[in-house]
Amino acid sequence: MWASVPRVKFFNGYEIPLIGLGTYLTKGEEGVKSIKEAIDIGYRHIDTAYRYGNEAEIGRAVRDKLAEGFVRREDLFITTKLWNSFHSPEHVEQAFHRSLVNLSLDYVDLYLMHMPMGLQFRGFQQENLISYDSAGKVLCSEVDFCDTWKAMEQLVRTGKVRSIGVSNFNCSQLERLLSVSSIQPATNQVECNPGFTQKALIEFCQKHNITVTAFSPMGRANRSDSSSQVTASILTDPNVTALGTKYGKSNAQIVLRYLIDIGTIPIPKPSNRAETLENIDIFDFRLTAAELALMDRFDNGKRAVPLKYYSHHRDYPFREDTGETDDGGGK
Ligand SMILES: NC(=O)c1ccc[n+]([C@@H]2O[C@H](COP(=O)([O-])OP(=O)(O)OC[C@H]3O[C@@H](n4cnc5c(N)ncnc54)[C@H](OP(=O)(O)O)[C@@H]3O)[C@@H](O)[C@H]2O)c1
Repeated sequence: MWASVPRVKFFNGYEIPLIGLGTYLTKGEEGVKSIKEAIDIGYRHIDTAYRYGNEAEIGRAVRDKLAEGFVRREDLFITTKLWNSFHSPEHVEQAFHRSLVNLSLDYVDLYLMHMPMGLQFRGFQQENLISYDSAGKVLCSEVDFCDTWKAMEQLVRTGKVRSIGVSNFNCSQLERLLSVSSIQPATNQVECNPGFTQKALIEFCQKHNITVTAFSPMGRANRSDSSSQVTASILTDPNVTALGTKYGKSNAQIVLRYLIDIGTIPIPKPSNRAETLENIDIFDFRLTAAELALMDRFDNGKRAVPLKYYSHHRDYPFREDTGETDDGGGK
C-alpha cells in the first residue's frame, strides 16, 4: 500500500501530486462514484475541463469527501480548463466563474488554457462550444492567446486560482507567451506516452521551470478515439512484461513509471477499480537508465490525439510534426 503520492513544486511554490486522475468521459452517477472511489484509494489530483461537461460531477464527489472529513481541501489538487471559444479577454472571467460554480469550490488549484487555438464564441452552453461552417470546418477566432493569458493572470490576483498554465502548446508558442507574461505558466499539459515522448518539449519546459503534465499517458489504449495504438501494444509487449515481472508490476505501471522517470506528471484515465488501484501504485520502484532506453524505443512520433480537425487554425500547435513551418504560434 502506498502511503501518499509524492508531489513536485511549481515555480511559485505550490505543489502538484505526481499522479493525477484523468476524467475525460467520466460522467453521471457512475462518474461521481468513480471519483469518490479514487479519492478513497489515495488520488488527490483530479483533472477536468469545462469542455468535458463533468465539472459538476467532480465537484459533487469532492464535496462529499470533504463533508465526510475524509480529506481536507488543501490536500486536494483540482485542475480545470478554459475552453477555446472563451479566449476573448472579456469572456475569460465569466468562463472561469462558470467552472467554479459547476465545481462548487472556493478556488481551483490550476486553471489551464485548454489549447492555444481560439474558436468562435457562441455562448457557454455545452452544445455551443464548437461551431462549424457550411463545409463542416471548425470556426476559428482571431484572438491572440497572449491576450487570453493576460486575462488569466487577472484570475490569479482574485485568489480563486492558485496557478495558471497551458495545454497543447509547442515550444515556440511557449517562448512567445513567456516573453509577454507577468506570471509564467506552471505547467504545459500535453500528450505524452511511450509512443510519443515529447523529449524536446520536456527539455524546453524544464529549462524554463515549467512542469509537464502528461495527458493520454496510456495513448488512449484500445479506445476508438486514439490515432495511435503504440501504447496499447506496449501493454502486451513481452519486453515490458519482463520489466514488470522484475518489479512485480503490470505493463501499465511500467508505462506510468517511465513517464514519471522522464520528468512528467501523468494523468491516466482508468476504466475500472482495478486500473484505478494499479495506476497509483507506482512509487516503490524506479526504472534504470537502460530500462528507460528500452522504453524510449517505442516512440514512433505519432500522436494518439493529433487534433486534426483544428489543423487549419493559425495557431495549430502540431505543424512541426509534419515538417510544415510553424509561424511561432502568433499573428
Ligand atoms: N489537455 C488536453 O487537451 C487533454 C487531452 C486528452 C486528455 N486529457 C486528460 O488526460 C486524461 C487521460 O487521457 P485519456 O483519457 O485521453 O487517455 P489515457 O489515460 O491515455 O487512456 C485511457 C485508457 O487507458 C486504459 N488504461 C488506463 N489504466 C490502465 C491500466 N492500469 N491497465 C490497462 N489499461 C489502462 C483504459 O483502457 P481500457 O478501457 O481498455 O481498460 C482507458 O480507457 C483525460 O481523461 C483528461 O483528463 C487532456
